[in-house]
Amino acid sequence: MPSLLILNGPNLNLLGTRQPEVYGKVTLAEIETMCRVHADARGVELAFEQSNHEGVLLDLIHAARGAHSALIINAGAFTHSSIALMDAIGSVEIPAIELHLSNVHAREAFRHTSFIAPVALGLICGFGARGYTLAMDAALSHLGHNG
Ligand code: DQA
Repeated sequence: MPSLLILNGPNLNLLGTRQPEVYGKVTLAEIETMCRVHADARGVELAFEQSNHEGVLLDLIHAARGAHSALIINAGAFTHSSIALMDAIGSVEIPAIELHLSNVHAREAFRHTSFIAPVALGLICGFGARGYTLAMDAALSHLGHNG
């Protein structure tokens, strides 16, 4: 059974109350529930994590090698700053999908730069909370999982 790891970076624990006009009113706990329902429907295992700490995210990516089939990462603002996350994702040989709730390319110029994109299979952004299940389907399609 494939196993997906969904990683959420800084400030995403505040979803629901954080700039709802940008990120919507859905909480991260509600997103996790949506993802778990979807994982059950698709017959896959799911790990879902959030951290505000770059080093914790790095450790989770390192531990994913051999444990998970694909990584979906909403790295929050670390997307635009973290060479360390890029190096970690590029090192563990797990297919990765970059995810954002908002359309980062329609926002400030500093959000147009991504250190995740060069080591990602692809990018899903701008679809709000629904992007999480879209990213799961994209990962499973890449893995050839038809369940
Ligand atoms: C985000 C976009 C980032 O630019 C921002 O720093 C976030 C959230 C998103 O999901 O739209 O924290 O990753």
